Amino acid sequence: MTDAGLDVVVLGGGGHVGLPLALSFADTGWRVGIYDINPSTLDRIGRGEMPFLEHGADDLLRKVLASGRLELSSDPKTIGDTDRLIIVIGTPVDEFLGPSMTIFDHAVAEIAPHLRDGALVVLRSTVYPGTTEYVAQRLEEHGREVDLTFCPERIAEGHALEELHSLPQIIGADDDQAADRASELFGRLARKTIRTTTKEAELAKLFTNTWRYMKFAVANQFFTIAHSAGVDYTNILHAIREDYLSSYQGDRFIESMRYVRAYPAQLPALGEMLPQIRTPVQIIAGRHDTAVPPVNAEFLHDRLPHSKLDILDAGHFTWEDAAGEYAALVTTWWSGGYATTGSAAAR
Ligand SMILES: NC(=O)c1ccc[n+]([C@@H]2O[C@H](COP(=O)([O-])OP(=O)(O)OC[C@H]3O[C@@H](n4cnc5c(N)ncnc54)[C@H](O)[C@@H]3O)[C@@H](O)[C@H]2O)c1
Repeated sequence: MTDAGLDVVVLGGGGHVGLPLALSFADTGWRVGIYDINPSTLDRIGRGEMPFLEHGADDLLRKVLASGRLELSSDPKTIGDTDRLIIVIGTPVDEFLGPSMTIFDHAVAEIAPHLRDGALVVLRSTVYPGTTEYVAQRLEEHGREVDLTFCPERIAEGHALEELHSLPQIIGADDDQAADRASELFGRLARKTIRTTTKEAELAKLFTNTWRYMKFAVANQFFTIAHSAGVDYTNILHAIREDYLSSYQGDRFIESMRYVRAYPAQLPALGEMLPQIRTPVQIIAGRHDTAVPPVNAEFLHDRLPHSKLDILDAGHFTWEDAAGEYAALVTTWWSGGYATTGSAAAR
């Protein structure tokens, strides 16, 4: 695009997220700058030593250092050598563990004097929702015009080099130009990019983390319950898992859906059998259900002699869309309402 000396600079590039990312870009043939305020980390990287364990990174680091495509710097001026800056610095929380923007105030003050006009700036650390908009305002106040995006990192430490290629990359952008530039950037690595707004991407990352922590927490809780009940948790785990998760693998789900595929041929015959069903049936349908339109519910109601039909102002998930009405219908039904359904003839 311009005469920038470096294809991309990673701010915080000596860290767990930044370094594998920088190495991966360099491995695609790009000239990559690592800007980091920790000089001892930069020294180690410069000597070809990975500062932490990351599968395959030792060899890759030596390879890209030998190629001369990696530049290490603790001088923010290096930001002026690129049209693409990726910012990966720690998650900001204050002394009460609440979200803090101070770190981004500092980062903006640090980069603003050096940023090239029109540069693509990517925020990549895990942040409080609205941080990207906040950074956009701060940059504007410093008189910088850039394309700003939020593209979260989702790798598991230790597996970054593989996952940067295998995971889809979420591109959070509030305008098309920024989105296109960020997609082009990450398209060098990721097999696929997915467009969202900046705030959606910020939340997507937080939800991903939260979901993961909930899974850890619930597993710990199960273990504690099993332990206090004096039983072996691993036995329960094996019993739960065996042939259960795998019931969805391969063609099993499709196989189990044979009855759906048989509908067109068998429904006419089944329809004729419906009047023989004497059990009371409460039919609840959603007026706006496009998956199973309410005409299906009317079809059943016309043929089941002891049925009651209620069509709610809901979509397919009636029990969620109209939870109160749904619960009231079910409660009435099981507390005796079923006894008052008339026969089809009486309706
Ligand atoms: N580690 C992970 O697996 C992982 C995964 C996804 C997201 N994240 C998020 O990415 C962010 C970074 O995490 P990390 O694990 O890489 O942290 P890290 O502490 O390993 O790395 C941060 C790096 O940034 C440098 N740095 C800090 N302030 C700087 C500044 N103002 N200018 C230049 N360099 C600066 C530090 O010296 C350090 O090398 C966090 O928000 C984290 O939540 C981490």
